[in-house]
Amino acid sequence: MLDYTPSNTLLTDRIILVTGAGDGIGKAAAKSFAAHGATVVLLGRTTAKLEAVYDEIEQAGHPQPAIYPMNLEGATPNDYENLAQVLIKNFGKLDGLLHNAGILGSLTPIEHYNVDQWYKIMQVNLNAPFLLTKACLKVMKQSTDASIIFTSANVGRTGKAYWGAYSAAYFGIEGLMQVLADELEINTKIRVNSIDPGAVQTKIRTDNYPGEDPNILPLPADIMSLYLYLIGPDSIKVSGQALTMDYKI
Ligand SMILES: NC(=O)c1ccc[n+]([C@@H]2O[C@H](COP(=O)([O-])OP(=O)(O)OC[C@H]3O[C@@H](n4cnc5c(N)ncnc54)[C@H](OP(=O)(O)O)[C@@H]3O)[C@@H](O)[C@H]2O)c1
Repeated sequence: MLDYTPSNTLLTDRIILVTGAGDGIGKAAAKSFAAHGATVVLLGRTTAKLEAVYDEIEQAGHPQPAIYPMNLEGATPNDYENLAQVLIKNFGKLDGLLHNAGILGSLTPIEHYNVDQWYKIMQVNLNAPFLLTKACLKVMKQSTDASIIFTSANVGRTGKAYWGAYSAAYFGIEGLMQVLADELEINTKIRVNSIDPGAVQTKIRTDNYPGEDPNILPLPADIMSLYLYLIGPDSIKVSGQALTMDYKI
């Protein structure tokens, strides 16, 4: 586990967009970023969940967040451009982008893999992060130092039987992260990294490990140190890295 204690004001005046902010790790990240001073833009597909996170952040007295409902499965390149325009108009910059929304589908051998499920997972887990990043780069360049975090998984670094599109999409994410980090190294102040959060007690995990006692797993709130480190300025020199929760500074 990362031994990192951020200051309470780590993210003061920073604007950070979190996808899949209504549940699980994204919800914990949004609340944690807000608790450290950020204005968080909550993006997700279930408005009621985003509203609940909004209320929790507001009631805790943290900077007022914003809600941006969006279903990444059906979103078009134009939708992402519109989002970038809204960010420019309302905030003038974007300091952090956490790509966290993801779906898994059912574990199936490739021979029998459902083609519609393959397309859907590729759209949400790989194409959406590409389109959102592409649209947001201009507004991220307005930041003094900006951070992009892609979410990955262990099966996005070593292939494993039956993990199909989920595994292939995260291999794509790791490639996208490396290409982007290399492109942005010169002449920009944008760093790009990926996180494998490890096994965490959320819906995606419990749905796929029905026999596992969820209480042996960390809660999303327990793994926030690495997210805070990467999204905040203490990681200013870290880019192009594929990190896991056992990462040490
Ligand atoms: N938990 C683990 O053990 C683990 C391990 C490795 C990697 N990960 C990755 O960590 C990330 C977060 O997962 P989690 O564990 O927090 O799972 P989760 O609780 O199921 O959260 C996934 C989030 O993604 C959102 N989402 C899914 N499809 C979407 C779409 N089409 N448009 C917009 N938002 C969408 C969900 O929204 P709704 O709530 O509205 O459905 C939810 O907020 C995922 O990328 C996952 O692959 C998790």
